[in-house]
Amino acid sequence: MAFSNLCLLHVVTVLTLTTLQLAYATPVQFKDCGSSLATIKSVDVTPCPSLPCPFQRKTNVSVVMEFTANADISASGTKVYGLILGQLVPFPLPDENACHCMPCPIKKGTIVTYKNSIYVKEEYPKLQLVVEWKLVSGSDVVTCFTLPAKITD
Ligand SMILES: *[C@@H]1O[C@H](CO)[C@@H](O)[C@H](O)[C@H]1NC(C)=O
Repeated sequence: MAFSNLCLLHVVTVLTLTTLQLAYATPVQFKDCGSSLATIKSVDVTPCPSLPCPFQRKTNVSVVMEFTANADISASGTKVYGLILGQLVPFPLPDENACHCMPCPIKKGTIVTYKNSIYVKEEYPKLQLVVEWKLVSGSDVVTCFTLPAKITD
C-alpha cells in the first residue's frame, strides 16, 4: 500500500509503549486555542506524568486527541508551534497531512480519534515552552490546543 505513513507506524509504537506506560496515559490539562470545526473531548500525551510535559530529547512523544466534529471535514493538516518567549516558532513535522492520523473524510457529529507523535531532536534547546497543536482545514481551524512542555535530556 502507498500508505506506509509515519502516523500508522507511530500507532504501533504507541500501543507498545502504552502497555509499558499505562500509569502515565492519563488525559492532560490543555487550553483550547480556537477550535472551530470541532470540539476537543480529550488530549493524551505520552509520556506526560505531570505538566509541563517533559519532552525528552531523542524520544518520540505521542499525542492522542479525541474530538467531535461540528462540520463535515474532507481534508486537514497538522500545524505544531512552540511558543517561546512570546514568539510562535513552527515545529516542522515530517508528515503534515492530518488525514494520515485519523480517518477522513469526517462527517459532522462524528467522534474522531487523532493519533500522531513528534520526535524531540537532540539539537532542540533545553527550555520550557507552550506547545500549540492545531488541525486546520483550508483557512478554518478544526481544533487547537496548547499545553506547557519542557525539553529535557
Ligand atoms: C521514533 O519514531 C520513528 C518513526 O516511527 C522511529 O523510526 C524511531 O525509531 C523512533 N525513535 C525512538 C527513539 O523511539
